[in-house]
Amino acid sequence: MSQFDEVVDRSGTHTTKWERYRDTNILPMWVADMDFRAPEVVIEAIRRRVEHGLFGYTEPPAELIEIFRGYLDQRFGWTVAAEELMFIPGVVPGLNIACRGLLDPGQSALTATPVYYPFLTAPGNFGHELQRIPVESVNGRYRFPGASLDRACGPGSRLLMLCNPFNPVGRMLDQVELDQIGETVLRHDLLVVSDEIHCELTFDGRRHLPTAVACPELRDRLVTLMAPGKTFNLAGIGGAVAIISNPELRERFARASSGITGQVNLFSYEVMMAAYRDGEPWRRELIAYLESNRDYLAARIEAMVGITMNDVQATYLAWLDVRALGLSDAAGFFERGGVGLSDGSQFGGPGFLRLNFGCPRSQLVEVCDRMAESITRA
Ligand SMILES: Cc1ncc(COP(=O)(O)O)c(C=O)c1O
Repeated sequence: MSQFDEVVDRSGTHTTKWERYRDTNILPMWVADMDFRAPEVVIEAIRRRVEHGLFGYTEPPAELIEIFRGYLDQRFGWTVAAEELMFIPGVVPGLNIACRGLLDPGQSALTATPVYYPFLTAPGNFGHELQRIPVESVNGRYRFPGASLDRACGPGSRLLMLCNPFNPVGRMLDQVELDQIGETVLRHDLLVVSDEIHCELTFDGRRHLPTAVACPELRDRLVTLMAPGKTFNLAGIGGAVAIISNPELRERFARASSGITGQVNLFSYEVMMAAYRDGEPWRRELIAYLESNRDYLAARIEAMVGITMNDVQATYLAWLDVRALGLSDAAGFFERGGVGLSDGSQFGGPGFLRLNFGCPRSQLVEVCDRMAESITRA
C-alpha cells in the first residue's frame, strides 16, 4: 500500500475543495489541491517553528535563498544571483503584480486559452485588455499556438502570459515551441510572465524546461513564477518566488506590489526550505502514484462513450472533452451523479471539464464508476 492510498478526512478544516459539497454525497474533483498529506519533512518543519512560539515579522532566510538557487541550478541548470529572487505570497498575486507593474496604460496582455482562470482576469483588474489565442489540438494533444500568437501581436500588445506546464491542457512546452515564442517576443518587443508552478509535476521521465533556460535571449524581458504549493500540496500556506534578472523589471515589479501584498508568511519560508531541500524522495513517490492514477483514469475514460481525455504530460489535472455528450450543463450533469468537476468555461474552454486526479485511488475508482453510471443512465 502506498502512503497516498490513505483516505484522510478533511471535514471540519474549512477546505475550499470539500466545503463546496459539504453535507452532500458529491466527491470534489475540482480545485487544484490534492487529498494527500504533505511530506513529513515539511510537516516537521512547521511543527518545529510552531514550538518556538514567536511569530514576528520575518525576513527571507539567507539559507532559503541558497537552497532555492541550488535547486534551480541542479534541476534545470539555471544559475541565478540572490538579488534576482523576490519572495511573494503566491503565484496568482505574482500574475497580478506583473500586469499592474509591467503594462502601461493602453497596453494589452496576451495568453493562450484555455488557461488557468486568474490569467483571464489579471489584466482586466488593472484596466488592460487580454488578447486570447486558442490552443491548437490534434487528437487530445495540445500545442502552443505559436503562429497565431505572432499574427495576433499588434502595436498595443506588450505582456505575454505563459502557463508552462500548461493548466488545464497538461502540456509541457518543448524547445521548438519555446523557440518560436522567443522569436515572436523579440520581434514584437514583448515582456513575458511565465507561470511555472507545475514544473515538478511532470510525468514519464520528462524534465521541465524553464522559459529562461530554453530562451536565454528573453531573460531581460522575463518574470518567472515558481512555488512549492502544487507539488507539495501546500496551497493553504502560500508563498512563491518571482525570478527577475533585469533590475529595471524587478524595480517595476517591486513597486507594483509595494504596500499591497504585504510580508510573506513566515511559515511559507519554512515550508519552502523544507520542500526544496528535503522533499525530493516524497515527490518521486507522488509522481509514480499520479502517473498510475492518470493511466487508470485514461483507461476508464476511454471506455466511456462521448468523453475523451487529453494526453497529460504534467499537472494532476485531466482535461475532458465532453462536447459529444451534447449536454447544456455538463458539470451539473455529473454533479447530479455525485462527481464535482470544474466547468471548462471558467478556463475559456466551454464543452470541457477539468478533473483533479490528485486523490487516493479508491476515490478515483468511485468517481469513474459514478461518471460511467451517469452516462449509461442518461
Ligand atoms: C497555473 C497555476 N498558477 C497558479 C496557481 C495558484 O498559485 P498560488 O496558490 O501560489 O497563488 C495555480 C493553482 O492551481 C495554477 O494552476
